[in-house]
Parts: sequence; structure tokens; C-alpha cells
Amino acid sequence: MSAGKRSYDIGVMPGDGTGPEVVREAVKALDAVAALEGFSVNYTHYDFGGARYLKTGETLPDSAMDEFRKQQAILLGAIGHPEVKPGILEKGILLRTRFELDQYINLRPVKLYPSVDTPLKDKGPEHIDFVVVRENTEGLYAGAGGTLKKGTPDEIAVQESINTRKGVERCLRFAFNYTLKRARDNKLTLCGKTNVLTYAFDLWERAFHEIAPEYPAVKTDYAHVDAICMWMVKNPEWFDVIVTDNMFGDIITDLGAMIQGGMGIAAGGNINPEGTSMFEPIGGSAPKYTGQNVINPLAAICAAQMMLDQLGETAAAARIEKAVITCLSKDIKSLQAGRMGYSTTQVGDLVAGYLDA
Ligand code: IPM
Ligand code: MN
Repeated sequence: MSAGKRSYDIGVMPGDGTGPEVVREAVKALDAVAALEGFSVNYTHYDFGGARYLKTGETLPDSAMDEFRKQQAILLGAIGHPEVKPGILEKGILLRTRFELDQYINLRPVKLYPSVDTPLKDKGPEHIDFVVVRENTEGLYAGAGGTLKKGTPDEIAVQESINTRKGVERCLRFAFNYTLKRARDNKLTLCGKTNVLTYAFDLWERAFHEIAPEYPAVKTDYAHVDAICMWMVKNPEWFDVIVTDNMFGDIITDLGAMIQGGMGIAAGGNINPEGTSMFEPIGGSAPKYTGQNVINPLAAICAAQMMLDQLGETAAAARIEKAVITCLSKDIKSLQAGRMGYSTTQVGDLVAGYLDA
């Protein structure tokens, strides 16, 4: 290693609504932990989002992807604006970035921290600690299909799920490797719907069983997506790592966010293991709370933690997680916006203050 200080180029895209407020606190945590761990972070800010779109008519300029590729990671706040028709910003910014940067994994930990309330009766942190590995570039999200005779009684709408052997296999391999790295129960559950989606999940299931022998230390399991929803509520302790397609992953991770205490704490990473990954709190832009300094920044801070992990700054990531846990047990009254007992800024200050513990 050279004598130079470790340094990271990070793209910051605060986005819409409360995005800028939570990203500000995540950056505060990053700066504080960087000072403690002896590395530096260079930020490049991008103003992409609803406000810019309303002003310029452009979601992302074509130069954005080349810009993003120069960054080592991207931290995203939230995308979604009440005055922009649903779909435009989601597809034009979020999904476009996931696809064009080939962030083929959406990694979503579902972890109940001590002192956080879960709606699940008789379940505690020892029961809720699993990770969903969601395929992030294919499936129903690929945009395949079309419409015919729109607006007439004969209208036809087709939306197809695209599943490539390559896309499925790289997702499954990531999940197997992640299960080994996590070293908890060494159990990987494939979440599908083989009883109905007999083309798509036949491919997933065959690939899963073909790859499994390469990972003899990983126990494999399968459950249909509807049953997974049931077990996530009834017996979440059965899960260690769940791997699934894009659409099912989208749905079950909102359920996951709820059982871990809510959107105020749920973070995720859009990962390209060989390229630029993007980390985000998975809650939306919360227009209702925008500008009030009442939104919970912990999910964004946890996204920064995941980013540091991905960058190999595991000690810094562990410091952030520990500080979040301390803040949850000592200070925060509720994860809900406006009910934390502290402002957004104060929660960020508290976490930053606990980092050197
Ligand atoms: C998510 C979101 C997005 C998705 C939307 C905003 C396009 O719900 O990150 O889970 O469906 O992937
Ligand atoms: Mn979602």
C-alpha cells in the first residue's frame, strides 16, 4: 500500500423531498467516521430529481452515467416528487442508474435492532436478522411488453418478465457467496413461484440446484413468495439469506422493512460488485415532512454504513452500526417522523457523537 491516505470519490444524489435532509446526516456520519478511521471522502453533488426535472424537462443528462462511473459509490436520498407523474423519475433516474451501471444486486438487510418496536408479537432482535438478495436489472422491471388499442374496450396490455440465465446465475452466485460471508446460519432460501410461473422460476430453480453443489457449506431451501410473506411474519427466524427476482424482492422487502421497525431504519444497496454501487434509504421522499427537519435519518446513515462495507472500510461501517444501536437504545423514542423526540439534525449529531465509542 502506498503511504498516501485512503480516499474515496463518492457521488451524492440527495434527490427529492426529505432526501437532502437525510443525506446531510449520512454525510455527517461519513465525515466523522472518516476522521476516526483515517481516510478521506471527496463528494461530488448531483442535483438530479423532481425539482430539476420540472425546471429542465430532463431526468438525467446523458453525461450522468459517465460521471457516476467515475465515482467509487453513490449515496442516494430519495426520488419522487408530488408534481411529477409517477414513473418518470423512478424510471428516468433510479431504474436507469440501476440498469446502466449494471447494479444487478439489490441487497436489503432486515435486522431488528434492540429497543426498536416490531409489529410482530413475541419477536425480538434474536428472531429478525436476515438479508434479501433481490435481482435488480431484469424480471418485470426490464420494461418488456407493450400495449395495443389503448383506451378502447379491446385494450391489450402485456408486461413480460425477462429472466436470463446469466442474470439469474450471477444473482444466485452473489447470494451463495454472501451467505458464506455472513456466516450466520449458512442457509439460503430461494423465493419463487414455481407452481404458477413455470417458465421463469423453472429457470431460477434449475440454476439454483445446479450451482448449489459448488457451495456445500450452504444449506438450500425453497419457498413460494406467498408462503415467504407468511413466514416472514410468523417465523422470521427461519431466514438467513433470501434470494429472489426483482418484483418479488421489491414486495417482500417492504414487508421486511415493516418488521424491522419501519422505513425510518431500512437501507439498501444497489450493487455492481465490479463497478459503481449506489446506496439508499428505502423509504420514499416523504413530501409531507419535507423541510421540517423531523424525518428519521437513520436509514440513510445505515445506507452509508452499507456503502463503507462495500468499499472495504469494515471497521468504519461497524462503528456506524454500533453508534446507530446506541442512539436507538439511549435516545430515540420512535422511528417515526416527528416522534423521535429529536430533530433530524439532532439524531445525526447524536450518531456522529457515538462513533468514537
Ligand atoms: C424500491 C422502490 C423502487 C422499486 C421504485 C421507486 C421504482 O420501490 O427501491 O424498492 O420498485 O424498485
Ligand atoms: Mn420498493
